[in-house]
Amino acid sequence: MPEIARANANASRAFFVRMLTRDISVEDCILDLIDNSVDAAWRKLGKKRLGLQSGPNFSKAMIDVKFDEKGFTITDNGGGMSLEVAKAYAFTFGRTDVAREEEAEFSIGVYGIGLKRAIFKLGEKIDINSTYKVGTKRSSFVVPIDVPTWVKGQSKDWDFPIKSAADLENDGLKITVTKLTDPAKARLGDGDFEPLLIDTIARDYALHLHHGLTIKVNGHKVRGEVFKLLSGGDFEPLNDSYVEKIGEDEVHVEIAAGYAFPPPESNDPTEKTEREEKSGWYVACNGRVVMAADKSMLSVWGDDFPAWHPQYTGFYGIMIFSSDNTELLPLTTTKRSIDLSSVVYRRARPKMKPPTRAWIDYTNARKNEVAAAEQRESLAKQTSIFSMTHSAKVTLPALKRSGPRETSIQFRVALDRVKNLARAMGDTTLSNRDVGQKAFDYAYNDMVDEE
Ligand SMILES: Nc1ncnc2c1ncn2[C@@H]1O[C@H](COP(=O)(O)OP(=O)(O)OP(=O)(O)O)[C@@H](O)[C@H]1O
Ligand SMILES: [Mg+2]
Repeated sequence: MPEIARANANASRAFFVRMLTRDISVEDCILDLIDNSVDAAWRKLGKKRLGLQSGPNFSKAMIDVKFDEKGFTITDNGGGMSLEVAKAYAFTFGRTDVAREEEAEFSIGVYGIGLKRAIFKLGEKIDINSTYKVGTKRSSFVVPIDVPTWVKGQSKDWDFPIKSAADLENDGLKITVTKLTDPAKARLGDGDFEPLLIDTIARDYALHLHHGLTIKVNGHKVRGEVFKLLSGGDFEPLNDSYVEKIGEDEVHVEIAAGYAFPPPESNDPTEKTEREEKSGWYVACNGRVVMAADKSMLSVWGDDFPAWHPQYTGFYGIMIFSSDNTELLPLTTTKRSIDLSSVVYRRARPKMKPPTRAWIDYTNARKNEVAAAEQRESLAKQTSIFSMTHSAKVTLPALKRSGPRETSIQFRVALDRVKNLARAMGDTTLSNRDVGQKAFDYAYNDMVDEE
């Protein structure tokens, strides 16, 4: 058929910026920038997988985040981006094929969108400074971005100016937001935000922090979260790994699961404890935790399993997917959930079931045998997830009943009849429960032959 005209499908810059930043939180944008700084540090350290017990030594890497209600900066010493990288792909929306090839290494970044989305979400006026080395020669540039002006630009080419700049103190990247967007101002100006961000960083970069990375938030050095699982005695956490081959590529999968906290005394679903909030399944991709404390069908709960219940508090499991082809990992673009269509994840997910099932069964048995369970638990030691020994399955105590099985009886009778019976028993002060117990014993002795 002959073509008679062409319909315009170009996106306006304003629409693009709005859509790009719509579904991501200010917090996740900051993490996106941290991801880039981690990747820069990792690139310098070479192709090394990051696992619970081994990984690159990040101890020289430093990421410094500072903010208040007026502005935001992130500075790293990851060696910066070269002018070539800035020109060719750091500012393109979506990774180019060149970038894909260049980045064939363990990294968190994969989509080519994080940096742009973060700066548009956080700022209206932003400077991106880079100081990098070619051979021994240090060079620097700055990319100043004025978003309202850029959005009004009419040219078809979407580009940003690159200008010469003074050297930064360390070779690395520094992003300075001098004018925040309204959502960023509201979030960063909120006094609760700083501790919340610190907790999220402690959890989501726990592996990198354990392997020496320094992240500071407004001067506070973040301590990585370290889960401890019961080990020894009748307890052994699961700690296993395998390699999944996808064509030419490999994905290394590490899985650990066990018992992190004693179950709560109350199973009241309205009483959410911090321990319950931390319990559940975690997933990390190239070290970065992208799903934390999951209690949904994204892991196993409520699928062909029981739905999450406070009774299961204490269960902790983590799956760590690592590959130098990050595209194979089950990451979403916001790095905040799991891509359920990922082949590697679909194959790995059933492996979450046996340790979860073991824990469900243990907590059910434990309800009737609390004292015996506590005694066994006291014999085990809390072991950091970073220093567990290999074990292909989770081991939990088999709780054997110590006495005869017990049950409780509840029934309702007229109050007058209870009082009358208490009087006949010779003690009107007896509680309803005691009257019931005595009546049961009386009938039992009379009617059941104990011989
Ligand atoms: N702190 C940094 N130091 C050095 N290079 C950086 C830094 N931040 C970004 N870059 C460069 O800019 C590129 C684009 O970053 P961007 O976050 O947009 O995409 P990505 O990290 O490749 O993928 P994703 O969208 O998954 O984050 C990176 O691939 C990297 O080459
Ligand atoms: Mg990125």
